[in-house]
Amino acid sequence: MSEPKVNVQMEKIVALCKRRGFIFQSSEIYGGINGFWDYGPLGAELKRNVKDFWWRAMTQRDDVVGLDASIIMHPRVWEASGHTTTFNDPMVDCLLTKKRFRADQIEPMSGDAYFWSGARDEQTGREIREPYSALIPTGKHADSARKLARHFYQQRGLSEPALLEERMEAVVDSTRYNPENGSLVTEPRQFNLMLKTWVGPVQSDEDVAYLRPETAQAIFAQFKTILEVSRQKVPFGICQIGKAFRNEINPRNFTFRSREFEQMELEFFIKPDDVAQAELGAPPEPCDLATPLPNWGWKEWLHYWVEERVKWYEAIGLGRDTLELYWQKREELAHYARACVDIQFKFPFGAQELEGIAARGDYDLARHQEFSGKSMEYFDEEARARYIPHVIEPSAGVDRTVLALICQAYAEDEVPDEKGKPEARVLMRFHPRIAPVKVGVFPLLKNRPELVKKAREVRQRLRPHLAVFYDEAGAIGRRYRRQDEAGTPFGVTIDFDTLGESGPALKDTVTVRDRDTTKQDRVKIDELLPLLLEKVS
Ligand code: GAP
Repeated sequence: MSEPKVNVQMEKIVALCKRRGFIFQSSEIYGGINGFWDYGPLGAELKRNVKDFWWRAMTQRDDVVGLDASIIMHPRVWEASGHTTTFNDPMVDCLLTKKRFRADQIEPMSGDAYFWSGARDEQTGREIREPYSALIPTGKHADSARKLARHFYQQRGLSEPALLEERMEAVVDSTRYNPENGSLVTEPRQFNLMLKTWVGPVQSDEDVAYLRPETAQAIFAQFKTILEVSRQKVPFGICQIGKAFRNEINPRNFTFRSREFEQMELEFFIKPDDVAQAELGAPPEPCDLATPLPNWGWKEWLHYWVEERVKWYEAIGLGRDTLELYWQKREELAHYARACVDIQFKFPFGAQELEGIAARGDYDLARHQEFSGKSMEYFDEEARARYIPHVIEPSAGVDRTVLALICQAYAEDEVPDEKGKPEARVLMRFHPRIAPVKVGVFPLLKNRPELVKKAREVRQRLRPHLAVFYDEAGAIGRRYRRQDEAGTPFGVTIDFDTLGESGPALKDTVTVRDRDTTKQDRVKIDELLPLLLEKVS
């Protein structure tokens, strides 16, 4: 029963995103292209705010430096990382509609499965010996399965197929059928998710290159260079924000699973446990995980980064109650990973991953050392030891974070209109820190030049410091609603009191309206900027 509600909520969110210009289909005038999205004026600001806040959180610490690497790298990078051989999803196609599914995402279904060995054309006598099967709900008349089968053999050239050697079997939890129509699907085939291109004028196998499927590998490949130029010492991290591309079989849930998306990744290099703990031994359990210690091993660092990242989400308005931590089970881990924690957000379509935080051992650097022939070893002067650093990797998605913020912000309530009558409104309760527009500036009336002049002055004062939207069109209530829907946390109105018409006490004051409570406070224009800056920082 919850399914329709979920869809209704997501439909409203998707509609608002399009209507207000947050996010819409790429190349829409040509019908769009599946798995690719564009961010409009509000979406672009929101996304930039998320990336800027992440970048500052990472680089405004002594032990993390940044990188902005190219999207296309030497193809050997992807051999070393294992992507050319193992970055695959199992894929199946519906035998009837040709629709493609990820085999591991097909919902198991039970019912009556009908099988045929082939069919004969009643007019021409031509036979096709190709087996087919269809699944229908238990007890439903066999004719609905036969209809699918006839359709299947018609597509293969028989105009009036008579079905051959029919048999029926009850099946339980089968993933061999298309959940949308019950037709058999093909056997699963492995499908590599990397998008290929060619570099240079020749399109031969030697010129193949890949659009990176993750930003992480550039960090590993440049580890030695960055170590030298930044003069960092292990433990330290390298972070990067950038585009990644995956030829996902089934892009879905709006931007959640896209084919082009952005990642925010940190590779944090640590000492192997035996080096970190050679002198001091392991830290006591439980230990304070807020302040790093020299003898922390990978487990302490992993917990530390999980907490840091959860605090970061809290700071942009995704409270702990909206998140879930999922510790991957041993059998779910990549073969090189020691542990991996998914930070999930409770989307309307279920709790789903925003970020994975993995303890990857020395796998990545060791592989690049092996494939490039260049040493990735680090000489630790303090410990007098040479080793390949181990890695803790917090890897987050920009687009998923933006989608989570949009889902979390979307709200409907009722507020009194100008005559005091309750009126329904849609608002986006973005945290002021990441809201695309921070403040709306409104002269009370458009046709009073003194109000307009003053309002423009206020806009000019705020604009160098804050994203401001100036609006003088329409009734003030409507202007507030428009900004509520854009998620603008504050509205500043210039009225007759501002001009001193009620006496000198209120001259050069404005009202500041809070989006969520709709409460208005009077503030001196001179105090406006510091007040707003404090609220949005
Ligand atoms: N370097 C590790 C790595 O790439 P991942 O779990 O495959 O790990 C990390 O990706 C994050 O990138 C995910 O948690 C998610 O936020 C984002 N991401 C991955 N695939 C995505 C897709 N198809 N669409 C949108 N975001 C995606």
